[in-house]
Amino acid sequence: MIAIEDVSKRYADGTVAVDRLSLEIPNHSITVLVGPSGCGKTTTLRMINRMVEPSSGTIRVDGEDITRRPVNALRQSMGYVIQNAGLFQHRTILDNIATVPRLLGWSKERARARAAELMERVGLDPGMARRYPYQLSGGQQQRVGVARALAADPPILLMDEPFSAVDPVVRRGLQEELLRIQGELGKAIVFVTHDMDEAITVGDRVAVLRTGGKLAQFAAPDELLSAPADAFVEEFLGGDRGIRGLSFLSTRDLALDRSQVFPVGTDWEQLAGQKTAQAPVLVTDADGKPLGWADLTVWTGEVQTLEPYGQGFEVGRDSLRVALDRAVLSPTGQAVGVDASGRVLGLAGQETVATAIRAARQRRAADTPQESAPAKAVR
Ligand SMILES: Nc1ncnc2c1ncn2[C@@H]1O[C@H](COP(=O)(O)OP(=O)(O)OP(=O)(O)O)[C@@H](O)[C@H]1O
Ligand SMILES: [Mg+2]
Repeated sequence: MIAIEDVSKRYADGTVAVDRLSLEIPNHSITVLVGPSGCGKTTTLRMINRMVEPSSGTIRVDGEDITRRPVNALRQSMGYVIQNAGLFQHRTILDNIATVPRLLGWSKERARARAAELMERVGLDPGMARRYPYQLSGGQQQRVGVARALAADPPILLMDEPFSAVDPVVRRGLQEELLRIQGELGKAIVFVTHDMDEAITVGDRVAVLRTGGKLAQFAAPDELLSAPADAFVEEFLGGDRGIRGLSFLSTRDLALDRSQVFPVGTDWEQLAGQKTAQAPVLVTDADGKPLGWADLTVWTGEVQTLEPYGQGFEVGRDSLRVALDRAVLSPTGQAVGVDASGRVLGLAGQETVATAIRAARQRRAADTPQESAPAKAVR
C-alpha cells in the first residue's frame, strides 16, 4: 500500500502545487487523481517515484518511507505510463516494451519473449513487434506504453493521463482493457486524469483535487456521485450525476413483468380477446429469445409484422442506467430483460426502474451493505 501522509510541494518559485495531501492507496485497486489543469496531479504522481521530492510530509510504500530506499530500486518497483505514451521513436515496439527488463539485466532473448507476451496481454497484434512507434495509431501507442510499464511486473503502476490523446471510442476500449488487465494482475494503480467520466469508469477510489493542490474529496465513484462533498466537486462531476450514479445499481432486484411475454405458437386470436392484449406483447421464439413487439388491438388474424424490440439488458449484469436507457429507447416504453444466454426474463418499464432506484436509495439511507451494488459497474 502507498500512504501519502500530509505531503506538500512548493516549487522553487513559490508555487504551491500540492498542499498537505493525505491519501491511502491500497494494493489491488485503482486510485484516480482527478482535477482541473494545474491542480497538482502530475506533481503528486512524481513524488511517489521521487522524480519530485516533497517539501514536507512522508510517502510510504508498504510502511517504508520511500526516501530510505535507493531511487533506482524504488523506480523499478513502479511502472510509469506518461502522457502520449512517450515511446522511444528509434526503437521497435518490441524493444520499447523490453526496455526495463533490459535495464534490469535480462538477456535480450528473455526480455523480448516477455515483451511479446505483454503485447498479447494489452491486445496488440504480434505483427506490430518490428514496427516503430510512428507506424502505430495513437491508441496502439498507448497500449505499448502500458505494456512497457508492465514489463518488469512491478507491483505499482503510475499512469499520468495515459489515454488522453485518443478519441472517445478508442479511449473507452483502452479503459476496458485496463480494467481487464487489472482484474488479472491486481496492481496498485495510481491513475491521473482530468476527465471525471474516466475517473468514475476506472477508479475504485477517486481523489478530487482542486487548484492549489488541496484534496476536495476522496471516495468511491458511487459515493462521489451520490454525495459530492461541496459545490466544487458537484460542478466538476457535471450535470447528470444522478443518471450516471445509476451505473452503480444492479438490475438484479428489478421486479420484471412476465405477463406481456408470449412465445410463438400462442393462440393469438384467443389472446386478442383478453385484457392483457390491450398493451403490446413481446413475442419470443421457441427458445425464449425475443423476436419483437406485437399490437394485438389491431390483430387481423394474419401473421403480424413485429416491431423491433431494439436492445435488451442483461439482468444482474447490466446496471439500472442501462435498463433505463433501454426503456427510454423502447417503442413500447418497456425494456426487455434477458439472461446471459439471451432468453427473456421479463419486462421493465420506466416506472419499474424508478421503483428499483427508490428501493436502492432507501437501502443506502438505512446504511445496509450495498448488496445490490456491483463492485464495478461499467456497462
Ligand atoms: N518545476 C516546476 N516549477 C514551478 N512550478 C511548477 C513546476 N512543475 C509544476 N509546477 C506548477 O505546479 C502546479 C501543479 O502542476 P502539475 O503539473 O502537478 O499539475 P497537473 O494537475 O498535472 O496539471 P495538468 O492537468 O495540466 O497536467 C502548476 O501550477 C504548475 O505550473
Ligand atoms: Mg499533469
